[in-house]
Amino acid sequence: MRHMGRGPMSRDESAAALRRHEAHWERHGFGLLAVTERASGDLIGRSGVQYHRAWPDDPEVGWALDPSRWGRGLATEAGRACLDWGFGELGFARLVSITTEENVASRRVMAKLGFDLLATVPFPELDIELLVHALDRPSPRPAPRATAAAGTLLLRAP
Ligand SMILES: CC(C)(COP(=O)(O)OP(=O)(O)OC[C@H]1O[C@@H](n2cnc3c(N)ncnc32)[C@H](O)[C@@H]1OP(=O)(O)O)[C@@H](O)C(=O)NCCC(=O)NCCS
Repeated sequence: MRHMGRGPMSRDESAAALRRHEAHWERHGFGLLAVTERASGDLIGRSGVQYHRAWPDDPEVGWALDPSRWGRGLATEAGRACLDWGFGELGFARLVSITTEENVASRRVMAKLGFDLLATVPFPELDIELLVHALDRPSPRPAPRATAAAGTLLLRAP
């Protein structure tokens, strides 16, 4: 949780976060996806498209992976699949991606995906500042896909 602007979550906080993620799916019809490694079938993290409390205008593409899988380009692969999903099937004209200044790895993933810094916003509930990066839908619009499936990973709704 070092780069999430807070310490580790308690069990209750984790349960509340899961409920929020489920409620997001129910309200909007999209949200966080489980990230599974195709070869092993292991659940290795999460990625997806969902609104962030710090930036209600555009949905956010985000990622968090198990440390054992870092450094293999998998967040970039998952993020790219989420961009296809967000711009394609979900039809958004702009997606954002939000992180802290210190989260160099996440900012690098954003850069590799083509995001540019749009704004710095306060996030009072954690007393931190967040960097909001934005990417507009490329033209022509990608073909809709049934799922956000990438090469190495399988991303699926809970
Ligand atoms: C951020 C995170 C998802 C990245 O996952 P990943 O699969 O390792 O990412 P990728 O391999 O696709 O790309 C990471 C890039 O950051 C670079 N990087 C990683 N750590 C770095 C550091 N300390 N300094 C500079 N660059 C760094 C890597 O070299 C790579 O860039 P490259 O392809 O140009 O070499 C992962 O670190 C994570 O889960 N962190 C904890 C959760 C989190 O912070 N989520 C984001 C919240 S905004």
